[in-house]
Amino acid sequence: MPPPSAAATSTTAAASAARDDMSPAEARLAMMELANMVSVPMALTAVIRLGVPAAIWAGGANAPRSAAELLPAGHPDPSVLERLLRLLASRGVFSESTSTSEDRTTTTRRFALTAVGRTLVPEGASGASYADYVLQHHQDALVAAWPRLHEAVLDPRGPEPFARANAGVPAYAYYGKDREANQVMLRAMTGVSEPFMHALLDGYGFDGGFHGVATLVDVGGSSGACLEMIMRRVPTIKEGINFDLPDVVADAPAIAGVRHVGGDMFKSIPSGDAIFMKWVLTTWTNDECTAILRNCHAALPDGGKLVACEPVVPEETDSSTRTRALLENDIFVMTTYRTQGRERSEEEFHHLGIAAGFTGFRAIYLDPFYAVLEYTK
Ligand SMILES: C[S@@+](CC[C@H](N)C(=O)[O-])C[C@H]1O[C@@H](n2cnc3c(N)ncnc32)[C@H](O)[C@@H]1O
Repeated sequence: MPPPSAAATSTTAAASAARDDMSPAEARLAMMELANMVSVPMALTAVIRLGVPAAIWAGGANAPRSAAELLPAGHPDPSVLERLLRLLASRGVFSESTSTSEDRTTTTRRFALTAVGRTLVPEGASGASYADYVLQHHQDALVAAWPRLHEAVLDPRGPEPFARANAGVPAYAYYGKDREANQVMLRAMTGVSEPFMHALLDGYGFDGGFHGVATLVDVGGSSGACLEMIMRRVPTIKEGINFDLPDVVADAPAIAGVRHVGGDMFKSIPSGDAIFMKWVLTTWTNDECTAILRNCHAALPDGGKLVACEPVVPEETDSSTRTRALLENDIFVMTTYRTQGRERSEEEFHHLGIAAGFTGFRAIYLDPFYAVLEYTK
């Protein structure tokens, strides 16, 4: 997959031209949509909590259901659920079909999962899916941070909105203290990682990627799910070290060939032939990233590789789903993890590597969200 290019630039022009052409009424309508946007993720969270995607896919295939069929018999008002489903159908999560009774007095709307909705149903052995990621983002402690987002702008070096809203406790420390939040985070990371890891291993892992590696360290490896997938596909790796915070690895499942090691990547990182690190740098400031990358550099042999998978923001701003997903995640990081933690461009990631002592760098685009950043010592 090529990096964002000239095509993105022309999309920018097209998008802004469309806005200039809007009538005042269209502009008010567009703003009305933005003002009510919170309804979308909250409706999504509600239907997941209610088990709707799993119920529609219960037989291993789409079985379109009406709101009444998704609720217990005798429910007093299925139209409340139907309203959520219609909104999400308008957003592409469900497809909607209607049927009219023979006497033409009632119309029933039935909902099935679209390709987007299917991401909410587990496919891998872990039983996790994007539904777990949605649930993780909408826990009370995370939602409470959002009304304080403007404080991040006013005081960018101060505590991030999450810490401001949660008695000064940063998100990772909060997960460490709250067993349920920790488990939800482990499942969320697994649910998002599994499909990406298939793409990574198909496109990168076998040939050049992990060639000749016997010991692989996953820094910030969460449950160890990524490491397990790599080791299943790359038989030369005999030992996997899943390195994460002590509270996180304490809850990680046992995995054959994987040693869970608790520690702090800002202090030191276990040595290995290569290091894998996914979705870690994004949540930290430039100085913190340099400290992590220096510790990775120290843990590698000469010629050793750090394979980091991170969202990489395009230089151009456009209205594509890819750019929106990346920029929305950037603000999630600002709100939840670090005000000055951020999604970065390929060039910024390159410079961080140079500052930490790495001499080789290349970026590989295998997936629309994560890029593979290969640093060589
Ligand atoms: C966004 S998650 C990514 C998890 C996993 N790599 C994945 O992509 O599925 C970031 C991970 O970094 C870990 N982490 C945060 N601070 C850390 C530290 N000081 N030392 C080691 N790991 C840390 C978190 O516990 C979490 O598992």
